[in-house]
Amino acid sequence: MSRIAYVNGHYVRHAEAGVHIEDRGYQFADGVYEVCGVRGGKLMDETLHLERLQRSLHELRMEMPMPLPALKHILRETLRRNHVLNGMVYCQVTRGVAPRDHPFPENARPSLVVTAKRLNETRIAVAVTHGVEVVTMPDQRWARRDIKSIALLPNILAKQSAREAGAYEAWLVDEEGFVTEGSSTNAWIVDGEGRLVTRPEGPGILSGITRRVLLQAARSEGIEVVERPFTPQEAKSAREAFISASSAIIIPVIRIDGQAVGNASPGSVTLRLREAYGRFGELS
Ligand code: PDD
Repeated sequence: MSRIAYVNGHYVRHAEAGVHIEDRGYQFADGVYEVCGVRGGKLMDETLHLERLQRSLHELRMEMPMPLPALKHILRETLRRNHVLNGMVYCQVTRGVAPRDHPFPENARPSLVVTAKRLNETRIAVAVTHGVEVVTMPDQRWARRDIKSIALLPNILAKQSAREAGAYEAWLVDEEGFVTEGSSTNAWIVDGEGRLVTRPEGPGILSGITRRVLLQAARSEGIEVVERPFTPQEAKSAREAFISASSAIIIPVIRIDGQAVGNASPGSVTLRLREAYGRFGELS
């Protein structure tokens, strides 16, 4: 079965889908994106993802490419045409096609691309069951990480270094020595008192949708939450650690820079939260 992509008003064969070479996304990374999880054919926390898309666009002084109901329809239609039940839908908006010149073009129409793919459920199950290793490295990104920009070069370089080091994810460390987040995930620890610790929202991190829903889930489970930065050293001596993102929700971290976290197996709070997410994440 061939995959289908939505590109600027048309559903086309994924293998042949493309945008113009002077699309500003291609030339300047002048665009934003969203990745929304899909379970049982339904979108997870769609409202929050679309609100964040709107916010990211606003920060780049761009408009939504179309009214929300139309975009919601395209997301579902792309899922349907690709027969995706469990997986994710990817949505990218760039400033559009214009002769290469740094200032915003006058009359470019935004480019909208939507793709859908299935989840590698086996890979996620293995990561959740056994936990994964992360390695820390300097955060070399720009100062507006709250915008979900498609400019991900420092993120992919960090992820690649992590993979070459045999780890699953990179935890990025700011100039003050605090963990910001993972290269494509938010970072969490459970401290010695059983409190859940994660960095507060702000320009230093992407405000993950999974992060937001997990904070809600934790509070309703009676787990104490502290939003504050933590260092790699503190994380290494924490009781538990994990990462969160829309793709796999939560993956336990059992080793940081080769050092075991707790007893080097997925922690109880981590697994409890993963379970609780199911009751809080909204499917539509
Ligand atoms: N990544 N931090 C960064 C830098 C991210 O790229 C992501 C998501 C997150 C988690 O956000 P959310 O819970 O909303 O998925 C945090 C997506 C999945 C990606 O780039 O593929």
